[in-house]
Amino acid sequence: MSGEPITGAVGAPRPRIEGPLKVTGTARYAADVPMPGLAHGWIVTATVSRGRLRAIDTSAALGMPGVLGVLDHRDAPRLNPEAGNYFGPDGSLRLLQDDVIPYAGRPIALVLAETLEQARAAAGAIRVDYDVQPHDVDFHLDHPASRPASTAFGPEADTGDVDAELAASAVVVDERYRTPEECHSAMEPHAATAWWEDGHLYAVDSNQGAFSVSQVLAALWSIDRDRVHVRSEHVGGGFGGKGLCGPQVILAAMAGERFERPVRVTLTREQVFEATASRPPTDQQVRIGADADGRLRAVHHRAAYALSPLAEYIEWCTEQAKILYAAPAIRTQLTAVPLDVLPPASMRGPGATPGSFALESAMDEVAERLGLDPLELRLRNQPTAAPVSGRPFSSRRLISCLQEGARRFGWTARDRHPRTRREGSLLIGSGMAATSFSAGVFPSTASITAETDGTFTVGIDASDIGTGARTALTAVAADALGVGTEQIRIRIGDSDLGMAWGAGGSRGTTSWSFAIIEAAKKLRESLDDPARPVTATMDTSALIDYQPARERQTFSAVFAEVTVDPATGEVRVRRLLGMFAVGRVINPMLARSQVVGGMIMGLSMALHEESVRDPGTGRQVNGDFAGYHIAAHADVPDVEADFVADYEPQDPSGFNGLGEIGTAGTAAAIANAVWHATGRRQRSLPIRLDRVLEAVPAQPPAAPLH
Ligand code: MOS
Repeated sequence: MSGEPITGAVGAPRPRIEGPLKVTGTARYAADVPMPGLAHGWIVTATVSRGRLRAIDTSAALGMPGVLGVLDHRDAPRLNPEAGNYFGPDGSLRLLQDDVIPYAGRPIALVLAETLEQARAAAGAIRVDYDVQPHDVDFHLDHPASRPASTAFGPEADTGDVDAELAASAVVVDERYRTPEECHSAMEPHAATAWWEDGHLYAVDSNQGAFSVSQVLAALWSIDRDRVHVRSEHVGGGFGGKGLCGPQVILAAMAGERFERPVRVTLTREQVFEATASRPPTDQQVRIGADADGRLRAVHHRAAYALSPLAEYIEWCTEQAKILYAAPAIRTQLTAVPLDVLPPASMRGPGATPGSFALESAMDEVAERLGLDPLELRLRNQPTAAPVSGRPFSSRRLISCLQEGARRFGWTARDRHPRTRREGSLLIGSGMAATSFSAGVFPSTASITAETDGTFTVGIDASDIGTGARTALTAVAADALGVGTEQIRIRIGDSDLGMAWGAGGSRGTTSWSFAIIEAAKKLRESLDDPARPVTATMDTSALIDYQPARERQTFSAVFAEVTVDPATGEVRVRRLLGMFAVGRVINPMLARSQVVGGMIMGLSMALHEESVRDPGTGRQVNGDFAGYHIAAHADVPDVEADFVADYEPQDPSGFNGLGEIGTAGTAAAIANAVWHATGRRQRSLPIRLDRVLEAVPAQPPAAPLH
């Protein structure tokens, strides 16, 4: 954030405090923790998409060297069927409980051996017979099984008369947009080490919230939450894929109980694809009507996503239609399509990311048909209050993002006509998108101890999934206590530190900071007392306003420039710029790193990522990094990202979350730039070479070759 005086630790750029541990290999991840007497588990997964287990023959495996045993549905510990996640009971957690195969990749057995290699070899010797049943993985918007999505995140919009407004519009866009199933692909695969002692379950697990994992494990085993101790000190990426209680820790805990040994379960990369939650595919219809002067009359956003009947899930694609633009009629319809697929989960910018691809592509199409600059179209339709709820925004600096982004990008020099820029044989185009992401805070508990030596120990079950949470919270604590950051010691990633929200929903840092600030207030009141150590603990549950009077959102504008090679269909992103309004920025260095990472994920979504299922088997056919493409360094230009001055009045320190807003909007900006380069719309992601070639027939080179 430029130009603001920095008076404390908050606002100053600082590298992450655990950086030296990570680059020297000292930081221990869940599969690195030394453990005497450790046994290794290897997961066997189902190879059919729907059916029943007829037989599992473990006899050969059991006779192999080092094998301690095999767990399957016949003898695994029984789990509580009511256990679930925040949407309710979740059948995906109930591993090895019955012979039903709900999706390919479902864990059906765990082989336990003295070494990882022995466990893997024995897993290969297990013979499984299935009664195969017909599966359905054929996802689309009008699937007959489609049903209204849960409205747990907020009601659908239905204001004004969409059809009448569309009929009265000078220009109507009515298009379909599709995004594929995607895999989170964190650098560290899911791993856990678990053991039991005196009726207590201990686990070192890779997750996004140790406390919530301890809650789920306690529920699964029907034991007191205080008897479950989950640590998650360093996590090599999560993005939502480690937001729930993963199969690794459930299976490790089961085997640990059954064999009375510490057990480690580490997923292979292929198992991350097939056995951990993915971003669901979406199929969306957007209808927008506008007057000739560019005023929107109607926005109708209809979206469907796939899920599993095992668990409720919301891919909230339609939220931005209720936030971004004013229109007399706004309607959203979100539907869920239950299929025989892996249960989905949030993936960075859930809902908003595929949703903004559809909405912001459609807005670009409206601008095209009106002959209007797409930036100008956005500026003309800014609401004064939230268009559907009618509530005022607590802070809405989207116009600043749009204008400052346009200035830095050099947007005004752009000729809005497509296919007007060339460099040699390459077509050049630029595009932009606006976006929003909901912000807020959830209950958390923080403890701060004033030590005898004058330092402070802060304990909170925050999760640092690569974001720099330790560093940010150290700064927050230092300012709250009025001391330097060198006087703060921070402990995170341990369910014994008490109830806390996880690293998710872009609400980790705001939730944890709130608790730390409240604990610091309480501690300062007792600091006159010279007795040391002294500890203050605060739980923010009672302090949170769940019905705030104002709409709390973050905003961004993303600008992209691409080159398209009409001979090969190759799209390259040459420039990418994002301006963000995310409240007061705690650490501009780490904040920039986060939003740049988010934008790279958006670029990767635009051009590369796609889980492909074979309709015949229902299985994913590209479940590894050879087949599932992710943007590599060579695909990523010098990404520019910065923050406009902003302050969130509903937060005690002016903060909002920024973990996810970087991803939303980026794919639309790139797709719009591809249109500008080629004159053809790309309404399905990823923008593969074949899709570009189909839209832009290869042409002879501009100049003769000789
Ligand atoms: Mo996130 S996708 O809420 O981890």
